[in-house]
Amino acid sequence: MVNPTGKEGELMKRRMTFWLSVAGILALVSVPGGTARGQKAPKVVNLPKAKEFRLERSMPESAVACLECHKQENPGLFADWARSRHASANITCLDCHQAEATDPDVSQEHFKQYQRSDNPWGQAKYRVPVAAVVTPKDCSRCHPDEVTQYNRSKHANTLEIIWKLDPWLNEGMNSAIERASGCFYCHGTILKVKDGKLDPLTWPNVGVGRLNLDGSKGGCTSCHTRHRFAVMDARKPEACGQCHLGPDHPQIEIYQESKHGDIYEAFGHEYLWDAAPGTWTPGVDYRGPTCASCHMSGAGQVLTTHDVTERLSWESQAPLSIRPSEFKPFPAQTDWKVERKKMQAICMQCHSKGWVEDHYTKMDLVMKEYNDTYFKPAKKKLDKLYAKKLLDKSKFFDERLEVEFYELWHHEGRRARMGAQMMAPDYTWWHGFYELKNRFVRFVEEANDLIKHNRKAYRAVEYPAATGTTTKPPEVFGKANK
Ligand code: HEC
Ligand code: HEC
Ligand code: HEC
Ligand code: HEC
Ligand code: HEC
Ligand code: HEC
Ligand code: HEC
Ligand code: HEC
Repeated sequence: MVNPTGKEGELMKRRMTFWLSVAGILALVSVPGGTARGQKAPKVVNLPKAKEFRLERSMPESAVACLECHKQENPGLFADWARSRHASANITCLDCHQAEATDPDVSQEHFKQYQRSDNPWGQAKYRVPVAAVVTPKDCSRCHPDEVTQYNRSKHANTLEIIWKLDPWLNEGMNSAIERASGCFYCHGTILKVKDGKLDPLTWPNVGVGRLNLDGSKGGCTSCHTRHRFAVMDARKPEACGQCHLGPDHPQIEIYQESKHGDIYEAFGHEYLWDAAPGTWTPGVDYRGPTCASCHMSGAGQVLTTHDVTERLSWESQAPLSIRPSEFKPFPAQTDWKVERKKMQAICMQCHSKGWVEDHYTKMDLVMKEYNDTYFKPAKKKLDKLYAKKLLDKSKFFDERLEVEFYELWHHEGRRARMGAQMMAPDYTWWHGFYELKNRFVRFVEEANDLIKHNRKAYRAVEYPAATGTTTKPPEVFGKANK
């Protein structure tokens, strides 16, 4: 289900209107009996028209020009658009790419297309300023609810979050190109224009928290690839798996290992992937859930959301597992108990209450075990080393124990927690608690040794490519600050 203030909300209202009218007719049919008992005939209420909706099939000639010329220039791109629901709804290139003449990202090169003599559509009268970048703000003209939800999410705000807490960035431990081709590829770049063109260090990019020139956050194509803009690819786990993978957040591997992933492998080809937005029904359109089913798509009374922080009762990316509202860099405006009920309601489309609650009981115990048995004691040891000045606090990652501590929570600590959340015992145990235990033992052994001999840890003098700027980007924080 979609937020009832949106288009589908209108659809729901329309359906309601239909049933209300049916009720009205039934009431009329029963009138004779009513009057027989001396009651007044019920008044037929004239319900207000549910909404205005007009589809205009015409399009301006300048829009026809885009289509005709690009059909020749980029048949692949055109075909994607032609098969999209946008094309059926008469949403053209112009509706998304037309820019204000003064926008910084207007393609100056593109104006040359309107001086072409080899193409009938290359005429000055079709000339329109276009920009390649299409932002959530542009989509929000027609999809305001999705964009409002997205704006609250950690996806949209990830640049602020990572700059607030990550030592790689805050202590300049990696270089600009390592960041651009690594971190920011997934998290998003800050788009910049250089010499009238988009700066290639920042573009192309569809990171979830990309900061756009119009101030909006994100790129909707991180999950809905252009120009199909389908719900289909976003509903498949692979859409999330491009970023949610690897040693520190192996959600796609966890999913593949789970029964839900097995079922997707076996029956995925039978799922109704392109069911209309908000109508994708668990158990009916698909047998086993995907990432989207549990984290985003609506089911039962739970509405579709573009805020992936909804439905979570734990913040388990953090070193210490806490509630999402307690996460200092970006406290969620949610109540974990309410959100847990929402997720459980999704599970209960296919499972019984007891099954689901018992799963959560185990999950909570895993969180506690990780926090109390591993993380807290390791943190205490690390603090002791700093207090005794056996480890140097000015830089992270330049001493081996710091790396060990980091991987303890950031790699195996997350794997244990997330494996348990999403039903993957191999991640919970072999890639999780087993390695956590190993790491913990090594970490404590070496720490104790340093303390016993009052010996300072070896510091890497030659730390490669530690050239990244430590100035927090003013675009994210308002003004430049260290
Ligand atoms: C006469 C042919 C022609 C017409 C008409 C035309 N384009 Fe293009 N367009 C091109 C070609 C060729 C390119 C690739 C070269 C370039 O970027 O200038 C291009 C590039 C683009 C780009 C990418 C620009 C960038 O900076 O990467 C966008 C977006 C675009 N066109 C949208 C449109 C839209 C929207 C319209 C209609 C308003 C339109 N085009 C009309 C031929 C055309
Ligand atoms: C629903 C909005 C929408 C419509 C309709 C649309 N585009 Fe796009 N287009 C986008 C988005 C989003 C991107 C990716 C840009 C970004 O990440 O900001 C894009 C990227 C592009 C690019 C540059 C990337 C590339 O792959 O070369 C071109 C060129 C382009 N569009 C042309 C067109 C043309 C031609 C049409 C009409 C056939 C069209 N677009 C219709 C939203 C749209
Ligand atoms: C392959 C894509 C990818 C790359 C590359 C990547 N990240 Fe991430 N990052 C993610 C995902 C996905 C998450 C969410 C993890 C989760 O929820 O388990 C995340 C989480 C984080 C978090 C935790 C945020 C929180 O809310 O606690 C920080 C900080 C972070 N990344 C920083 C970085 C930095 C800095 C780099 C480069 C040095 C980087 N990431 C490289 C995808 C990536
Ligand atoms: C993290 C992945 C992801 C991102 C990023 C994303 N979407 Fe979606 N979107 C989805 C999924 C999954 C669905 C399908 C929901 C369902 O099953 O009906 C969807 C559905 C939609 C729909 C159909 C109506 C609805 O709400 O179900 C629209 C419109 C939409 N998205 C627009 C956007 C816009 C605009 C953005 C950028 C602000 C965006 N999406 C970014 C995953 C994403
Ligand atoms: C001018 C209006 C308009 C703009 C701008 C627009 N859309 Fe749409 N979009 C529509 C209409 C109309 C539909 C069809 C009704 C529906 O499915 O919600 C639609 C449908 C969708 C769907 C559902 C497709 C499906 O498979 O059911 C997605 C996803 C989507 N749009 C994403 C986007 C994204 C992302 C952007 C910005 C890059 C965008 N739209 C810009 C009007 C627009
Ligand atoms: C382009 C990369 C990318 C894609 C695609 C992506 N994510 Fe994420 N996701 C991230 C990053 C980065 C973070 C970490 C944000 C932060 O905490 O700073 C994240 C965080 C999350 C979180 C944790 C939110 C929280 O509050 O702790 C969830 C849940 C999530 N994503 C689900 C999904 C789902 C489901 C999909 C697919 C439908 C998806 N993501 C697609 C990059 C991505
Ligand atoms: C069966 C439903 C289900 C499926 C399928 C699923 N998840 Fe989850 N996911 C959960 C549950 C339950 C949690 C823990 C929720 C809580 O905090 O209460 C969770 C936690 C997470 C988290 C950790 C968020 C945080 O901050 O602690 C991320 C990230 C995530 N999932 C992403 C994904 C991705 C990506 C996929 C697909 C590859 C996926 N999930 C598939 C149910 C699911
Ligand atoms: C679309 C239906 C659907 C949804 C939604 C769903 N599941 Fe499942 N789940 C299944 C099916 C089908 C199986 C396989 C049952 C079997 O093994 O016979 C399964 C298996 C499981 C298993 C057993 C795993 C194993 O390895 O044997 C657990 C635990 C589980 N689900 C928990 C959950 C939880 C918790 C949620 C919500 C966060 C959830 N499921 C959401 C359909 C669903």
